[in-house]
Amino acid sequence: MKKILLTGGNGFFCTRFKIRHDKKYEILSTDLPELDVTDEQDVIKTFRDFNPDYVIHAAAIASTDFCNNHPELAHKVNVQGALNVANACKDVHAKMVFISTEQVFNDNVEPGPYTEEMTPTPKTMYGKNKLDAEEQLKQMLDELWILRFTWLFGFPEKDCGINPNILWNTLLIALQGKKTKVTCHEYRGLTYVHELIDQFTKIFDIPYGTYHIGSHNALSRYDITCHILKNMGLEDRIKDLIEKDTEKYKAKARDVRLCTDKIRRYGLTFCDSKDAIKHCIDTFKFKI
Ligand SMILES: NC(=O)c1ccc[n+]([C@@H]2O[C@H](COP(=O)([O-])OP(=O)(O)OC[C@H]3O[C@@H](n4cnc5c(N)ncnc54)[C@H](OP(=O)(O)O)[C@@H]3O)[C@@H](O)[C@H]2O)c1
Repeated sequence: MKKILLTGGNGFFCTRFKIRHDKKYEILSTDLPELDVTDEQDVIKTFRDFNPDYVIHAAAIASTDFCNNHPELAHKVNVQGALNVANACKDVHAKMVFISTEQVFNDNVEPGPYTEEMTPTPKTMYGKNKLDAEEQLKQMLDELWILRFTWLFGFPEKDCGINPNILWNTLLIALQGKKTKVTCHEYRGLTYVHELIDQFTKIFDIPYGTYHIGSHNALSRYDITCHILKNMGLEDRIKDLIEKDTEKYKAKARDVRLCTDKIRRYGLTFCDSKDAIKHCIDTFKFKI
């Protein structure tokens, strides 16, 4: 059985990944406080003890505001932590999957969707950290896949982490019943976390390199939120629950969509965002 070591194992992605693939792979899930990726010696020791074939490095501080307010800590975890993991991969001859983000494009002037060939210009500390780590890892490792995720979504699940995501955020709006402004000038790629996880291990068979991940999405955040409420059976309450925010990002639309055609050519396919959202709501039978 091949061995996979996860960092950031208690997070939204890795908790679901482990449950889904635990029978086919021997998986060691690591996270704080047992393994801090900034502790170089501990990382090396853990990797030597487990001797993984693959490492999925998902540990990160992913909060944009937190990273902007704590740039040194953000760099230590998001960049130095990634380098420590890469060093340990090299030491035990493990292949590394580095999870990066669409946010590397959050200051590009040209609109998305962005391809892997386009030059990213990040504005936030988090985006800068991820791009910095990407560039340094490419210098260090030959056996490296860099996956730039779009915004993952899914419902809370037993024993799994939950993060703010478009589906959960919309459900919270409905539960709280307080009218909320939602911008119509923001465009993001979206990924149903299980659609990704179900086919994730195909990554191990494709050429090393950088890939954009997830569903294509042509809708604004406001339109996607309407689509979610409609699919949850709350169409009649849309006007009570959300209000179109025409001011936020008016001067320049926030567009961090990724073109995911490259990974599709290697057999990882994602349905359109609208269908992915409907599929998730139907799977969880979340019709009110
Ligand atoms: N979710 C998305 O929509 C999305 C989109 C694009 C890219 N990504 C990237 O995908 C990866 C996984 O995302 P996710 O949503 O699963 O993230 P997540 O839920 O925030 O999980 C990250 C995990 O890393 C842990 N961590 C933080 N600092 C650490 C350290 N020094 N050592 C070891 N572990 C540490 C966190 O612990 P604490 O919670 O205790 O801090 C958390 O359990 C991340 O690298 C993220 O940047 C995610």
